[in-house]
Amino acid sequence: MHYLVIGGAGYIGSHMVKLLIGEGHGVTIVDDLSSGHADALLGGELIVHDFSDRAFLDRLFSSVKFDGVFHFASQILVGESVTNPAKYYRANTFATLTLLEAMRDHKIDYFVFSSTAAVYGEPEYTPIDENHRKVPVNPYGASKYMVEMMLADFHRAHGLKYVALRYFNAAGADPQSRLGERHEPETHLIPLALKAVLGKKPPLKLFGRDYDTPDGTCIRDYIHVDDLSSAHLLAMQYLYAGGESTAFNLGNGAGYSVQQVIDVVGKVTGRPVPVEYAPRREGDPARLVADASKAKKVLGWQPVLTGLETIVQHAWNWEAASQ
Ligand code: UFG
Repeated sequence: MHYLVIGGAGYIGSHMVKLLIGEGHGVTIVDDLSSGHADALLGGELIVHDFSDRAFLDRLFSSVKFDGVFHFASQILVGESVTNPAKYYRANTFATLTLLEAMRDHKIDYFVFSSTAAVYGEPEYTPIDENHRKVPVNPYGASKYMVEMMLADFHRAHGLKYVALRYFNAAGADPQSRLGERHEPETHLIPLALKAVLGKKPPLKLFGRDYDTPDGTCIRDYIHVDDLSSAHLLAMQYLYAGGESTAFNLGNGAGYSVQQVIDVVGKVTGRPVPVEYAPRREGDPARLVADASKAKKVLGWQPVLTGLETIVQHAWNWEAASQ
């Protein structure tokens, strides 16, 4: 197969490219490198371009017949999406509409989309299954949910075959430390805790210790980036096998509190994490845990790098190696 990976030079996309190459597929990557890194690609052909340029897509789709598209490129900062919503609706929603129109016109029918647990908004219950009410509470979640709605409509109108994958907390790194998380700015808990340990960043600010959870800190479901990638390939294969277009949650189904993560980082690195207590960060739900049984049952997905220690160990190996 020859796949197009949009945003393939980013954190999750680069792990996906690694998997596809390892499985012997042809891979073309389109990434404008606004947040991705060319040296994160372990193979494939990189085209540095804005994927929302319709004339560019027409040229690309006329020259290569892709068997399917994986779409990872997006803006991901929840807080920024509140202060600058237009950036999110343009980059995540409008740009994806342009892509879908080009795919429709060039008869590329297979699509796997990176969605998010943020489509659910404030959870009414946990673990969250796919039928949970979708009421995003920030433009980031809304911008992704709008794409999911467009996908359902393109499916009905034009026969697009799609899977939307709703990630919980992507974490970890390539077990061989060739790839890892490199966001600028970095806002995610595990890399910030590791950087604090290494003195590359100031002490970690722990946002809120007064949540309604056993230790008062927020609970999240951390899923290894390689396990996320394997779900994408299974999703594409599922569509090729005639599977129904739909959405799946991707998480381990196990919740860890921020304090537990800090403790595991301390254990794995052998050094205490410098921590400063800070007030709650706006928009953080107390508890976000996935019910991912649908992906396991329907896709046959089986996450293998499930322990928080393994996830943190891989992230640490990468972080320490990239000093
Ligand atoms: N946290 C801190 N200090 C930090 C960073 C994070 O205490 O410096 C806490 C947060 O308050 C939260 C937990 O660590 O309780 C995890 O925070 P992350 O920023 O690592 O991840 P989020 O759960 O906020 O975000 C993830 C995805 C988003 C997605 C969201 C769904 O990264 O893309 O889940 O709501 F939108």
